[in-house]
Amino acid sequence: MPTNLVILAAGQGTRMQSDLPKVLHEVAGAPLLHHAMQAGATLQPDRVVVVTGNGAEDVAAAAQDFDPQVLLAEQTERLGTAHAVAQARTALEGAEGDVIVLYGDTPFVRPETLERMVEARADHAVVVLGFEAADPGRYGRLVMNGDALERIVEFKDATDEERAITLCNSGVICVDAATLFDLIEAVGNDNASGEYYLTDIVEIARSRGLSATAVACEEQETLGVNSRADLAAAEAVFQSRARAQAMGEGVTLQAPDTVWFAFDTVIGRDALVEPNVVFGPGVTIETGARIRAFSHLEGCHVSRGAVVGPYARLRPGTELAEDVKVGNFVEIKNGILDAGAKVNHLTYIGDASIGAGTNVGAGTVTCNYDGVFKHYTEIGAGAFIGSDTMLVAPVKIGDGAMTASGSVITSDVPADALALGRARQENKPDLARKLMERLRDAKRNQSEGKS
Ligand code: UD1
Ligand code: CA
Repeated sequence: MPTNLVILAAGQGTRMQSDLPKVLHEVAGAPLLHHAMQAGATLQPDRVVVVTGNGAEDVAAAAQDFDPQVLLAEQTERLGTAHAVAQARTALEGAEGDVIVLYGDTPFVRPETLERMVEARADHAVVVLGFEAADPGRYGRLVMNGDALERIVEFKDATDEERAITLCNSGVICVDAATLFDLIEAVGNDNASGEYYLTDIVEIARSRGLSATAVACEEQETLGVNSRADLAAAEAVFQSRARAQAMGEGVTLQAPDTVWFAFDTVIGRDALVEPNVVFGPGVTIETGARIRAFSHLEGCHVSRGAVVGPYARLRPGTELAEDVKVGNFVEIKNGILDAGAKVNHLTYIGDASIGAGTNVGAGTVTCNYDGVFKHYTEIGAGAFIGSDTMLVAPVKIGDGAMTASGSVITSDVPADALALGRARQENKPDLARKLMERLRDAKRNQSEGKS
């Protein structure tokens, strides 16, 4: 049976104290909304509807960025969760199968949990995701009778007896599409908040002879972000999951708590990551590569056997082929390095390709920017770039060519040629000694004049 998603993302997030809509705050380099959409995407839903409200345009753009097929519905006033879901009705007109309601500010619901909910639908009309809360606080409470969910009572409306219940409502529900909107139509707002509660559909379903149940998950999965502290907690949850997953897949993390992953980091088996490494979005690391301490990588690919760092920075568009070495204080942006190339110290490579086995000396800079345009540097295979070479792009260095240390290279160097782009050295015999004597004399005269 097909599944559809409704993701509520209209909330204001007042407690974030932010100009940015809450669901656009990032965890592991991706907006909260993307994490929620990702969790649902694994069910291969037929239709996905994101309900926007606060910052609707920006939230819609982010939703489309994740999934160009996404359907959008706008909730112009915040009248409650049932009202929010009702906005998705048109987008889901004629949809077949179930609808799962997710929340844009709740990033960690596991795909397996959603699958369990879908399975439970075989026996029940309404399936609600619950969790045993360490501190039930103001969550809605699930009133169970054996397997059957009798009703959900909001904290504000609950009796003391109901408040003692620790099985809480995550808010995630799964109902057949047609049934969902029928039930929502019957929801009123006669309660402590004057809101249309989605949670009321449970009692309404039961009054119509339909059954409801709850599926339980770990509390961590239902972690919602309402404040900056929650956001930091969510980041911590993501990172500890990512570290455990990487190690489970055969990656060595020497100091797991100091390695930061992005939502999409991919690292091959037997890769080794030293302490204090940060992966921004878009990084893939092949098996057996070594990422040394204090390196920062984003938007790059590192092949088998390559070594990066310590203290290296790889920026978007960087591809390191097998056995490349990138050493300390090297920054590479949009650089393609062929097998076995070495850039070991204090170098900037931007908008450049470097052929196989080429050695780039310390302090080399590709001068890629003229203040308006970016230009490309092409270095062939087996070349030797002397220390402190300035490569003023656009420029090409042929295979097997060399540049002398300290050269400023402004025109192409043919294959196998040596380029000298610096002033010729001149030695003046004795001049250093004479100069120093003159200076010392001057200093002596000055201090005698004072006394
Ligand atoms: C809701 C549940 C509660 C549950 C809790 C879990 C209801 C009535 N209550 O309470 O049982 O324990 O979530 O966190 O559903 N939203 C909209 N439009 C609205 C109202 C809400 O998009 O008009 C979105 C919010 O942005 C938020 C989510 O729905 O992401 C939950 O809304 P919120 O008002 O925070 O519900 P709670 O009171 O926390
Ligand atoms: Ca809430």
